[in-house]
Amino acid sequence: MARAAESGLQRPDDHIIVLFGSTGDLAKRKLIPGLFRLAKAGLMPRQFRIIGTAPPFFAKTTDEFRAFARASVETFGQGTIDEKEWEDFAAKISFAPAELGDEDALRAEVARARSEIGTGVRLLHHLAVPPHAFGSMVELLGVAELVNNARVVCEKPFGTDLHSAQELNRQLRSHFDESQIFRIDHFLGKESVDNVLALRFANGLFEPIWNRDNVSYIQIDVPEKISIEGRAAFFEETGAFRDMVVTHLFQVLGVVAMEPPVSLDAKPLRDEMVKVFESMNPIDVGQVVRGQYEGYLDEPGVSPYSQAETFVALQCEVDNWRWKGVPFFLRTGKCMAESRQVITIGFREPVMRIFPGDMGVRGRRGNKLVIDFADPGSIDLHFFAKLPGPQMRLGNAQMSFSYEDSFSSSHNLQGYEQLILNAMIGNQALFTRSDGIERLWEISQPLLSAPPPVEIYERGSWGPETVDELVSPFHWFLPE
Ligand code: BG6
Repeated sequence: MARAAESGLQRPDDHIIVLFGSTGDLAKRKLIPGLFRLAKAGLMPRQFRIIGTAPPFFAKTTDEFRAFARASVETFGQGTIDEKEWEDFAAKISFAPAELGDEDALRAEVARARSEIGTGVRLLHHLAVPPHAFGSMVELLGVAELVNNARVVCEKPFGTDLHSAQELNRQLRSHFDESQIFRIDHFLGKESVDNVLALRFANGLFEPIWNRDNVSYIQIDVPEKISIEGRAAFFEETGAFRDMVVTHLFQVLGVVAMEPPVSLDAKPLRDEMVKVFESMNPIDVGQVVRGQYEGYLDEPGVSPYSQAETFVALQCEVDNWRWKGVPFFLRTGKCMAESRQVITIGFREPVMRIFPGDMGVRGRRGNKLVIDFADPGSIDLHFFAKLPGPQMRLGNAQMSFSYEDSFSSSHNLQGYEQLILNAMIGNQALFTRSDGIERLWEISQPLLSAPPPVEIYERGSWGPETVDELVSPFHWFLPE
């Protein structure tokens, strides 16, 4: 990866980063490897410290935390580890336990780092803790007086329903103003999701057809092969709808469905996202399929009577001038046949059928624009072409763009890396706003209040069979 100076990227002000939940899964898989990658790329501040924290029960010494960080970079980081770079990075890492009512060690560690770097240093608190622990972490920041010149990154899911999200927003606002609050959704940091903005608004080709006159349906499909992977406590509390739909898939929908923003600055961009959410109708429970993979009830830590969904598919609508009547189909689940992250825009069929055998082309005559937004990402346009030969017959054809084949990936940042960098710079454009997230919980309320029973699906499948009825008369683009 090119270093910041070579690529002309902005370098953040000096920072002390405090990682709450620093011994947990997210810190191990994404946050620590991401910070190391930013450091390797020369995108970290000139002076920085990373303080890991967790309640005393999970406490580590600084040496133990450095070893944990090293293991996480080795297992989940990208590329090789240069020992000199690692030593420089590791020297900036320390650990201090903290919980509400026991803040002294963390306060002292921040004071120490501040005295080393300088009093003007910014604080970035990353709250990688589950929803139930969130409020007390915010209180802790207030009690420990760690709120001045500070920003706070809030992990998802942001609340578990409208009431809890409002309560979290209230707690946050008693210590921070909105410009200091960064509600994270790492899908919004993915190159290929941001590329939807480029595709739509940097080209004259697509935007004129990006509406109900030309589009017959939209799918956002995120099947995952992985199981809950030991996250029973989290999944029993959260389920796939809260974990993936409210958090990630609705945000992707916002990017796909938004009106052109007047600029890419945070306010206009987020205003347009929020307008999409405001135009969405409350979820119709009759248009939702909840599933649970076979064997979920045998996972350690899962209640034998659990109704937590490991799969969800639903139809929703954006009730505005651009999209009225166009169904948006969303699907995600664990233990499915493939791991993919795909947006499909299905276009209307031509009005006339003038080609012999036209009906026979898999019965699916609409063109499709398929955006694969899993890193590194690709875009394919599916259309029909004349099959070579004496007869006028049609075959399926494709125009393809692949990030990997088209651009150097040297500047490519993964979702978390991009967003942590943006939080340090203070750019909120790719973070969710309180009104947006509250609106999403509001439209979700009918489903949260009266969820349909879960249907059992086979591991390695595409979910319960009823998902095909949900999209009928259309078809899921996946499996290809
Ligand atoms: C997380 C969810 O936010 O996103 C996980 O909690 C999910 O359940 C993950 O597997 C998928 O994200 P990605 O982009 O890292 O594959």
